[in-house]
Amino acid sequence: MEKKLFESKYGYFANGGREYVITNPKTPRPWVNVISNGDYSMIVSHTGSGYSWRGNAGQNRITRSFQDLIKDSWGKYVYIRDIDSKKFWSAAWKPVMAEYQEYEVVHGIGYSIFKHKVDNILSTMKVFVVPNYPVEIMEITLTNLDDKKRNLDITTYFEWVLGNFPDEHREFHKLFINPTFDEGKNAIKAEKYLGQFADEKGRHNNTSWEYIAFHAASERVKSFECDKESFIGMYGSEQNPQAMQMEKLMGRWGRFTDAIASLQVEVSLDKGQSKTIVFTIGAAHIKDEKVDELIAKFTSVEAAKEQFEEVKKFWSEFIDTEEINTPDEAMNIMTNYWLKYQSISCRLWGKSGYYQVSAGYGYRDQLQDSQIFLINKPELARRQILLHASQQFNEGDVLHWWFTIRGGGPRTRCSDDLLWLPFITDAYVKETKDFSIYDEVVPFLDGGEATLYEHCKRAIERAYSKFSPRGIPLMGDHDWNDGLSAVGNEWKGESFWVAEFLYKILVDFIKVSEMREDYKFVEKTRDVIENLKEAINKYGWDGEWYLQATTDGWEKVGSKENEEGKIFLNPQLWAVISGIADDDRAKIAMDSVTKYLLKDYGALLLYPAYTKPRTDIGYITRYAPGLRENGGVYTHAATWAVWAYALMKDAELAYEAYRRICPPNRSKDIDKYMGEPYVTPGNSDGPISPYYGRGGWTWYTGSSQWLHRVATHWILGVRPEIDGLRIDPCIPKEWDGFTYRRKFRGATYVIEVENKNHVSYGVKEIYVDGKAIEGNLIPEFNDEKEHHVKVILG
Ligand code: GLC
Repeated sequence: MEKKLFESKYGYFANGGREYVITNPKTPRPWVNVISNGDYSMIVSHTGSGYSWRGNAGQNRITRSFQDLIKDSWGKYVYIRDIDSKKFWSAAWKPVMAEYQEYEVVHGIGYSIFKHKVDNILSTMKVFVVPNYPVEIMEITLTNLDDKKRNLDITTYFEWVLGNFPDEHREFHKLFINPTFDEGKNAIKAEKYLGQFADEKGRHNNTSWEYIAFHAASERVKSFECDKESFIGMYGSEQNPQAMQMEKLMGRWGRFTDAIASLQVEVSLDKGQSKTIVFTIGAAHIKDEKVDELIAKFTSVEAAKEQFEEVKKFWSEFIDTEEINTPDEAMNIMTNYWLKYQSISCRLWGKSGYYQVSAGYGYRDQLQDSQIFLINKPELARRQILLHASQQFNEGDVLHWWFTIRGGGPRTRCSDDLLWLPFITDAYVKETKDFSIYDEVVPFLDGGEATLYEHCKRAIERAYSKFSPRGIPLMGDHDWNDGLSAVGNEWKGESFWVAEFLYKILVDFIKVSEMREDYKFVEKTRDVIENLKEAINKYGWDGEWYLQATTDGWEKVGSKENEEGKIFLNPQLWAVISGIADDDRAKIAMDSVTKYLLKDYGALLLYPAYTKPRTDIGYITRYAPGLRENGGVYTHAATWAVWAYALMKDAELAYEAYRRICPPNRSKDIDKYMGEPYVTPGNSDGPISPYYGRGGWTWYTGSSQWLHRVATHWILGVRPEIDGLRIDPCIPKEWDGFTYRRKFRGATYVIEVENKNHVSYGVKEIYVDGKAIEGNLIPEFNDEKEHHVKVILG
């Protein structure tokens, strides 16, 4: 029997944690899978609902859906019908929601599989996106478990969007879609004669959508439909569409329809017999891709089989080069599989979840996410860094986010965005020692170009130009916490968190400036470093913790003087992370974190939550108290608590701060948690909420990469430095040890940590390939070989 991990009444982890199996369709919220190949993406919930897009989910949606987490009722659906009895159901639970004999959904890395048994017919539907092509496959196998022959048909159904979504003026956009049927290819093709972008003269509404979408079947189709009214019936529903009462589909197509795609295939099965049918959906660019070639290449049973293996290979390259094995099964599962997958498939590629649809890259967001590539594919992190550098203006400021297809986005007055460029570049260089990245020449948005070093420097110099008279960086429109959106609009209010963040960056960046003999800048930076430390400690210390900010009106934010929002998480953590706090203050500040912020489900972003909107602070105060940034556990920041506690050598609390936000651990109170146990949530409700502990905004959150990083760098303590790989675990003392296999600069390290003495930290001995070494920094080998590192704690 296969081991079921973290089993709840809705499902469990299987296959060592690599897959999550859902056994009950009535999960508290849709539990989804975001599947992307970096270009073409789809999201599919455990009910079978979801949608597809190419490039980005906002500007290039292929199929329609609406955000409705309660009904979860939009999808690319598949009906199964018994032609004799007229009974029908669906391959997934939605839309028909029939009584079933068995229901099981497997969400895997790059695919989902639906098993549904109704009326003695077993259907297995595998859905996935083909690597390197803009095509998704639905492979459906029907098996007759009855004791007689069964005559069935399968009917697909979904709506086309073909461009911007939401298309608020649906009736207008509908007029431009032209769905046609290609009998020879058993395929529906759809064009849209209205594109989402302006032409070269900047004129809107006079171009065509640049793709041809298609939906094809591997079998001869009995009938097809391109018109919604003909399929659903006027005032009808997906649950019980008129099409299921008709012998076959009406076959309407063309420019006067309300465009959908539906293909119907007949399947007769003898007792015990199975048959597989493959459907594809995709979108070919009109310039350089041929729709007929894509249809022919992928719409067959053999191609589906082959491509499913390709999917596994494809993901293995991103997932399998790194593996931990610790006594904490939740940490293993999340680190080895799901956090990497979530960060890459959803955050960096798909950029869409059920709770949030993004049409672009966030300047700071995907830069942070790209750290997930550092171990396995550092070249992709490099590419992401250079891409973000190109979204900067000569003055050093950047776009807060930009559209990924044609670019463009809001020029930010936010104080931290730009600084993530040097911060993440430093992380890249620590992993790879590839200092040459600083010499890459990258354009500015408003003309001209410069090296990445210069881009980083301009970001820093821009920050230097926005200091308060007492030497603290100004808040501007907000800092990392977007919701502090009114604190400093007049460039008077300060951010103590930005002060710490900048300090941390400068301490590393000054070394690069020194190497490059940029002495004038080094001198300036040395001064700033010194003054910042003094100023933060002088003006930012509130007695038991550090302030978050001051407003344009010079009111304190995050102070004991405040009634609400007395203490914020980030300034305490980053006081430790940056090193601006001396030992005493670090201890006092982190004790305050433990006392006020570290609660049952992780560290709260602030306490107490704001109960009334505050025009001088911003929209954070407008969320219900305890929700999202307003005093909930904001998972992204909550991961940094692990880092700070580990720096304090408080292994127990570092582990607690981790364990409480590690999603599989919430399987035991899953009805309270509600979210998927296999991906991180953006937030979970704080204690003041009536839904304390409820997870929300799953998948599309910057917390996934960070949860991976704090576990490996700060609990397991294996982190790259310029001169080698540091081994400095900070683990629960009960642990007997752990192993960790990872790549580092062209070699593989198999690290085995032994903790027979049951300590939390402190490396006693290290043997590299059998030879004892001094200290705890492992040299780089760069020899494509495997090296064994034995570490003894004590
Ligand atoms: C959202 C934003 C991220 C920001 C965070 C905190 O997740 O995408 O950039 O830092 O909220 O406000």
